[in-house]
Amino acid sequence: MAAPTPAPAPEYWAAPPAPHRRPRPVIALNAIHKVYGQGEAEVRALDGVSLTIERGEFVAIVGASGSGKSTMMNIIGCLDAPTSGRYFMDGIETGELDEFQLAQIRNRKIGFVFQSFNLIPRTRAVDNVAMPLAYRKVHRRERHTLALEALDAVGLSTRAGHLPSQLSGGQQQRVAIARALVTEPVLLLADEPTGALDTHSSEEILDLFEALHARGRTIVMITHEPEVAARAERVVRMQDGHIVSDTAQTAYHHLAGGAR
Ligand SMILES: Nc1ncnc2c1ncn2[C@@H]1O[C@H](COP(=O)(O)OP(=O)(O)O)[C@@H](O)[C@H]1O
Ligand SMILES: [Mg+2]
Repeated sequence: MAAPTPAPAPEYWAAPPAPHRRPRPVIALNAIHKVYGQGEAEVRALDGVSLTIERGEFVAIVGASGSGKSTMMNIIGCLDAPTSGRYFMDGIETGELDEFQLAQIRNRKIGFVFQSFNLIPRTRAVDNVAMPLAYRKVHRRERHTLALEALDAVGLSTRAGHLPSQLSGGQQQRVAIARALVTEPVLLLADEPTGALDTHSSEEILDLFEALHARGRTIVMITHEPEVAARAERVVRMQDGHIVSDTAQTAYHHLAGGAR
């Protein structure tokens, strides 16, 4: 997870859009290249990727192993910088930021969800969820209140006092999602969020993403499983560092309704 940073109000912070303007995209990737190695060993992990994701979208990024998904995730998550191209995160040009400012973007604007949950063991669910708020000037009692609200939003308000070891895999991932959301990020960025889960628990997580999407959350989910991607509203397919298709799932709402 991103290194926590104290947070003075930064000057580069983009002003909120005027009400009459179209809201800025959450993600705007413009001709992104990422090259690893040199000469014979050169790998073009991303080879000219442009992608815009607007507020409120639920997007799956799919592709075979080696297609560039993790590289894309690392760039979208401001964990790695592209070799060339421009990336605007919520209107902010990330190429102009230093490490400290990038860490602030990660902490304030992005909620990360990982395959392996990454919860702190022997620490109650509510305290796991409150953790990202400890790095800000939020008082203890308010942290607790906000964490309980976030747990409620993922349907786990009755498990606040449980330790990770006392929760199922699906429940642990819901705690991790609550932790990702407690800071009210503009983007929920999930890397193979169902990868460690059985079919039933995977459904639980995808149902939750659908509900969060219905409440207006912006979700980007990286997955190699087509049946997981099928639950998103839009599917971006990667191959050899390129986007080879970008499809709105027109039957999305119908399918979502039928799945319950
Ligand atoms: N740190 C790295 N150094 C060299 N090559 C890398 C590195 N990371 C990824 N690659 C290569 O870049 C390509 C895309 O990898 P990756 O983004 O991990 O794909 P995916 O997540 O879809 O499996 C692959 O060919 C991979 O071997
Ligand atoms: Mg990968």
